[in-house]
Amino acid sequence: MAIITKNINEALSILNSGKLIGIPTETVYGLAADATNEKAVQQIFKVKNRPSNNPLILHFPNLDAAIPYFKNPTKKIEILAEKFWPGPLTLLLDRSDLVPEIVTAGSKRVAVRVPAHPLTLQLLEKFNKPLAAPSANPSGYISPTTPWHVEKQLGNKIPLILDGGPCSKGIESTIMGWNENNVPVVYRLGNITPEEIGQCIGTTPLVLNKSEKKLEAPGMLSKHYAPKTPTLITDNLEMAINKHLNKNLGIIRYMPANATNKNHTEFVLSETGNLNEIARNLYAKMHEMDALNLDLIVIEAMPDEGIGIAINDRLRRASTYRS
Ligand code: TXA
Ligand code: MG
Repeated sequence: MAIITKNINEALSILNSGKLIGIPTETVYGLAADATNEKAVQQIFKVKNRPSNNPLILHFPNLDAAIPYFKNPTKKIEILAEKFWPGPLTLLLDRSDLVPEIVTAGSKRVAVRVPAHPLTLQLLEKFNKPLAAPSANPSGYISPTTPWHVEKQLGNKIPLILDGGPCSKGIESTIMGWNENNVPVVYRLGNITPEEIGQCIGTTPLVLNKSEKKLEAPGMLSKHYAPKTPTLITDNLEMAINKHLNKNLGIIRYMPANATNKNHTEFVLSETGNLNEIARNLYAKMHEMDALNLDLIVIEAMPDEGIGIAINDRLRRASTYRS
């Protein structure tokens, strides 16, 4: 059992002793360590069972605090930080020598973000060093969006979880950077869309999809963000349900339908089909369903628009098979 608390000083003393804590962000909960302490960072890989070639995001309280950790600050970086930080945008930038090798897993670039959560921002201000933090889940599993998700998955491996309540956004940050030709690229879709970034910097980034051979972020790999229960994402929910009628099904609809299936466990993500609400509720509902020992979870794909594109992308990666 980890201590679940709002006490920042307790959190700081654990971080200072080289141990890990759960931290709230607006996207998902993170598993945080002092990024300048190599041994502490090593623990992150161990606790998550994360391959050591999968680099970590550094978290800062503001752009100024991040500047020593990357090279070549540009006007565009400044404009993006001004517009979206604190917020769910991670920038892939050229790393400076201050970044320990273990954080970037040998890459020349470092991922940097300023999370929009008051408790974690206070913690970062006081800590005065970057926190390395991946999502606080065992590698490959669904990210946590409440302190209790963290407790359930990693509570026996970490001493403390900072309690910031449920995450307001609910899916991991958008990751973007510039490729070798200085073309902006989104490597992981998230709350901030490529179009919004484009409006800010004058060019809409390319989206590097998983069919491209060179994967820059392992989060772009398929089979990620997945429940333990076999999971199916479908554009045609009724057809999928009919096909698997003999199974003990869990059904997740993105909005209410006329016909409900009384024989199955059914969750609805938003009464009005609001995509922000859907994103906020999705992982909690997936965690809840996964605890029910069902044969199959069937999830209805949302409209492919705005943040719906990012949500569908996550769901396809969570899906054991396609309908
Ligand atoms: O919303 C988020 O970004 C959350 C919260 C806790 O901040 N963090 C998160 O971290 O989702 P993680 O480790 O679960 O996903 C980060 C992704 C991984 O796919 C990793 O491969 C990629 O970012 N990444 C990190 N540093 C990178 C680098 N230097 N080069 C390429 N990809 C990188
Ligand atoms: Mg993750």
